[in-house]
Amino acid sequence: MIKIGDNYYQTPCYIYDIKQLIQNVNAFRSLLGEDITILYATMANPRIEILKELNNLDIGTFVNSIEHLKNSLKANIPEKKINFAGSGHSKALIDEISDLNISYCADSLSQLKLINSDSNLDLGIRINVGTLLMNGFDPAPRLGINIEDISKAIEINNKISILHVYLGTNLEESDIYKKAIISLLDLAKKYPNINTIDLGGGLAFSPNDKNFAKRILLEIKQIWDNNKHSNISLIVEPGRALVRSAAKFYVKVEDVKINNGKQYIVVNSSGTWYPRKIIHDANDHFVSIIGRKDFANTQPSVIVGSTTFSKDFLAELKFPIVEIGDVIEFKYAGAYCEAMHLDFLGIDKPNIYFLNQS
Ligand SMILES: Cc1ncc(COP(=O)(O)O)c(C=O)c1O
Repeated sequence: MIKIGDNYYQTPCYIYDIKQLIQNVNAFRSLLGEDITILYATMANPRIEILKELNNLDIGTFVNSIEHLKNSLKANIPEKKINFAGSGHSKALIDEISDLNISYCADSLSQLKLINSDSNLDLGIRINVGTLLMNGFDPAPRLGINIEDISKAIEINNKISILHVYLGTNLEESDIYKKAIISLLDLAKKYPNINTIDLGGGLAFSPNDKNFAKRILLEIKQIWDNNKHSNISLIVEPGRALVRSAAKFYVKVEDVKINNGKQYIVVNSSGTWYPRKIIHDANDHFVSIIGRKDFANTQPSVIVGSTTFSKDFLAELKFPIVEIGDVIEFKYAGAYCEAMHLDFLGIDKPNIYFLNQS
């Protein structure tokens, strides 16, 4: 059990704080201004409770699956504020969404051909970033239509009005956004039906640098203000940067072992429920022990799950010696954590709690 305010919460648990989510959205809004549309990328966390709060704040979504599309609709997000993209979509999937007034960004010329001429979709194309930036950099070479093929795309469907990209993950500098804005605006000049450019997400979450978010968002706004055309709108699709600080994950220490000079801290959950270490080998965990201020005398440690899977790790770090019964907090657990959980070890889902829900 842990106590926050007057309430007790049972570990293992994720505790989402809606007040923090609202603060993050408001910060993005005020830094980017009303001119730039923000769509929340649901792959970071598709929880309906989050989507409902975002809808209250007038934020739409970027989705890449039917399930996340349905979540967005269930949260009452207006169709006009939902953008759907992906790859390898079947004709059946495209027909399923065809009557909706959402936007849909096709990943290839053959995907575009699957869209009926009478569909209600606002159409866009995902642009292959390697061919757009031509600097040898492409975070996802498998995705998108080469810029040489845009004319062919428009011949297939002349309703295409959106150019959509994703420029990379955990981006800390605005240069790449600048290059993309300028290149996409050049393309928009060439193809007069284009009325929207969409930069995707990818903004880093950098809590150690308090000015970071402010700096990069202000720079993006300034680049846009210096280059924008009156007939083109700009969309950004942050996932991680909006929700990562809006949840914490808590686990209880059930056992402690020292093997080969390392402290193994065995907790009452599994890396399958906090999979940043298993999937990304991430080491950005911001972990602490509830009620413990003294973090001196840290030891090489691994926080591990309660299974026999040899890589059932939540974090590998230098950590003070803990005791059975201690509660460990993972501070920034709102993005790509619960949403990315793995199913294979059969460990119970953690409790889910919300603070400051409207
Ligand atoms: C097109 C697009 N937009 C937004 C996102 C969200 O990215 P992030 O959570 O890094 O902001 C992704 C992630 O893959 C994406 O592909």
